[in-house]
Amino acid sequence: MFGSVKKCNNVKDFRALAKKKLPSPIFHYIDGAADDEITYKRNTEAFNKCDLVPNVLSGVDKIDMSTTVMGQKIDMPLYCAPTALQRLFHHEGEIGVAKAAEKFGTMFGISSLGTASIEEISNLVSTPKLFQLYVHKDEGLNKDLIDRCKKSNFEAMAVTVDTAVGGNRERDLKTGFTIPMKLSLSSAISFATHPSWAFNYFTKPKWELSNLKNHIAAGTSVMTSIGDYFTQMLDNSLDWKGVEKINKEWGKQFAIKGIMSVDDAKKAIDVGATAVMVSNHGGRQLDGSRSPFDQLAEIVDAVGDKVDVICEGGIRRGTHVLKALSLGAKACSGGRMYLYALAAGGQKGVEKTLSNLKNEIERDMKLMGVSSIDQLTRKNLRFR
Ligand code: LAC
Repeated sequence: MFGSVKKCNNVKDFRALAKKKLPSPIFHYIDGAADDEITYKRNTEAFNKCDLVPNVLSGVDKIDMSTTVMGQKIDMPLYCAPTALQRLFHHEGEIGVAKAAEKFGTMFGISSLGTASIEEISNLVSTPKLFQLYVHKDEGLNKDLIDRCKKSNFEAMAVTVDTAVGGNRERDLKTGFTIPMKLSLSSAISFATHPSWAFNYFTKPKWELSNLKNHIAAGTSVMTSIGDYFTQMLDNSLDWKGVEKINKEWGKQFAIKGIMSVDDAKKAIDVGATAVMVSNHGGRQLDGSRSPFDQLAEIVDAVGDKVDVICEGGIRRGTHVLKALSLGAKACSGGRMYLYALAAGGQKGVEKTLSNLKNEIERDMKLMGVSSIDQLTRKNLRFR
């Protein structure tokens, strides 16, 4: 198995391997997005509407790609964004991702809909830990998650704000993807044709929504689609006051994840956020919305001197990271860029994709003639 992982030189290769390894409803859950998936595609395409302009002969024998984001020094300017359901993709799940991120000295996040508990992650790794809070209608649950993160020494929290309702994920509607998975004739066929995934799924400890199961049956013992989960369980009356209250309860590094407009970026400062994550949820919510990279410059110009601006979404190459940093992002993050690799080979897969991306960033910095990321500026970029 690891032989194939070794041959994956980029995210595209990992996507192809994940497609082979996963039953199709699971692959399409990761790979799919909302409506016509225009925003999803745009998230990556946006990086290609501008070009890098290198400088040469600048002595690039020593490269420092470290950055400080949300008060955390990380060894590379790209980290693993929090994503849901990881043990469904590979039995090593969040634990494997955390250990891989630690090897590369970068941050990683776990989701409220994660399949490892806050406590399991707590002392597992020394690398910075980010918790992604989905604000539920059940206030007791929100409070419990915040308290547990405090006790477990999570360094940072991100409240996701682009999920007032579930996005229209038509691939999930087509495949009937739910959590837990429905057992039907077509899913049985899909399991039978992916024996190594099915072997692990049925022989390793059963996965659950570890951080929610004591409060909510949906997703652990009651089947639901992710879209319905968002619509039914999350608090769609949430507003800026509510986020401010959560920030006060938390009291540490605090990001708002899913900011796309300058007005909202300014409001994020008013409620005390220390970072904004410019993100459209990987194109999985509002199709037709702009890409994070397209919105980055105006958000950096408006708030970049007061909060960390993080560019999340569509990153597939080291050059994408360099372009976002040139516009003023403090760091980049992504989900699918490591989830395909997790599905393809567990922790080893995530290590290989992080290694590929780190090598690309280093090579590209050398070719750009910069030895630290603060040397990347808008002078390096031309929009066509
Ligand atoms: C998603 C959530 C769970 O499926 O992040 O997009």
